[in-house]
Amino acid sequence: MHWPLPDEVPVQSYVEALAEAKQAKLTRLMGVSNFTVSQTKAAIDAVGVQEIATNQVEVHPFLQNRTLVAFLKEQGIQITAYMPLAYGKVLSEPLIQQIAAGHQITAAQVALAWSLQQGFVVMPSSTKKVNLAQNLAALAVNLTSENMTQLTSLDRNERLANPDFSPAWD
Ligand SMILES: NC(=O)c1ccc[n+]([C@@H]2O[C@H](COP(=O)([O-])OP(=O)(O)OC[C@H]3O[C@@H](n4cnc5c(N)ncnc54)[C@H](OP(=O)(O)O)[C@@H]3O)[C@@H](O)[C@H]2O)c1
Repeated sequence: MHWPLPDEVPVQSYVEALAEAKQAKLTRLMGVSNFTVSQTKAAIDAVGVQEIATNQVEVHPFLQNRTLVAFLKEQGIQITAYMPLAYGKVLSEPLIQQIAAGHQITAAQVALAWSLQQGFVVMPSSTKKVNLAQNLAALAVNLTSENMTQLTSLDRNERLANPDFSPAWD
């Protein structure tokens, strides 16, 4: 479910429909996206937490989405971090470049490792083979706990995917 539209369709009605599709073996998993804490709670109440494979939301160093992340972790729902590079904006951030230089990796790899080390599934996109390969190699990066703490300071609630039909974010 790509975007919730709670004013038009109650969450319960479509998560129940998705659960029926799963029951009928039309899909192996069902996931939601851009769901707030209260919308995720409504989905859990409707079909049970075990039915929700992931909530795919915008998360990157400039938008750390801590309230939602904490809630999803507490519920055991996998977080999928979309726009993990803030559409390229993280690449020119001095602290990220400094950490990258220290590990002899790229700024993109620092941002991706920051997400991966918090247990998020990350889905960066690229039109370039070289960047795709570099992004995949972020799986092998190990940022130090000091790096992770430093990166926490970059949170500035900068949401990039914010269309006019967005819910009121947490
Ligand atoms: N569920 C939702 O509502 C939702 C909303 C938005 C996005 N998404 C999904 O999230 C995924 C990623 O989002 P996104 O593409 O908007 O943002 P993103 O992955 O944060 O950033 C993509 C940008 O970063 C550049 N890039 C990627 N890897 C790079 C590297 N190693 N070095 C330098 N530049 C690099 C790309 O340019 P190049 O092509 O030049 O590499 C592109 O300009 C997509 O699959 C998208 O569909 C989901």
